[in-house]
Amino acid sequence: MNDVIVKQLGNDDKIPYELLLLADPSIEAINDYVHRGGCYAAYVNNIAIGAYVIIKTRPLTLELVNIAVSEAYRGKGIGKMLILSAIDMAKNEKAKVLEVGTGNSSISQLALYQKCGFRVVGVDRDFFKKHYKEKIIENGIECVDMIRLSMDL
Ligand code: COA
Repeated sequence: MNDVIVKQLGNDDKIPYELLLLADPSIEAINDYVHRGGCYAAYVNNIAIGAYVIIKTRPLTLELVNIAVSEAYRGKGIGKMLILSAIDMAKNEKAKVLEVGTGNSSISQLALYQKCGFRVVGVDRDFFKKHYKEKIIENGIECVDMIRLSMDL
């Protein structure tokens, strides 16, 4: 899609909570990382249709902590475009490593991250059991562990 504009949100821009909540059910977690990091959104005709957030976690290391595309726009390459934009942003920030984590049950997200060049580096066992009150089931699989992926920039 060539009419999509990706830009970093400024202080006066509205945080696209409705999008960020598609990737993370915890509003507390979203508020925490949005204020610690940079939030970027994809717009079509001035309407936010996708968003991502990157934060600095360690020296020279950034993490993509949220990425979402509104349902009507999925499967058109916008998720991939946002990840490639996050990689560019991280390179501009002179980071050396970009990390991301996703659920063991998030099959299409695992495919997408690996198609964009991320490699699996570990498993944060029981992450979702420890940090989320509600049981999460996706693709008929209980989401309990966080698969950690990383990319050298
Ligand atoms: N096997 C192989 N590839 C798969 C796949 C599967 N099961 N499911 C998806 N993919 C691939 C697609 O084929 C495509 O790759 P391609 O361009 O090489 O064909 C890619 O993954 C998806 O592409 P894209 O259209 O760019 O993604 P999207 O715009 O639909 O956005 C999400 C993807 C994950 C951002 C979107 O589905 C979303 O917002 N989901 C809800 C929030 C969420 O889960 N966020 C991530 C939290 S970890």
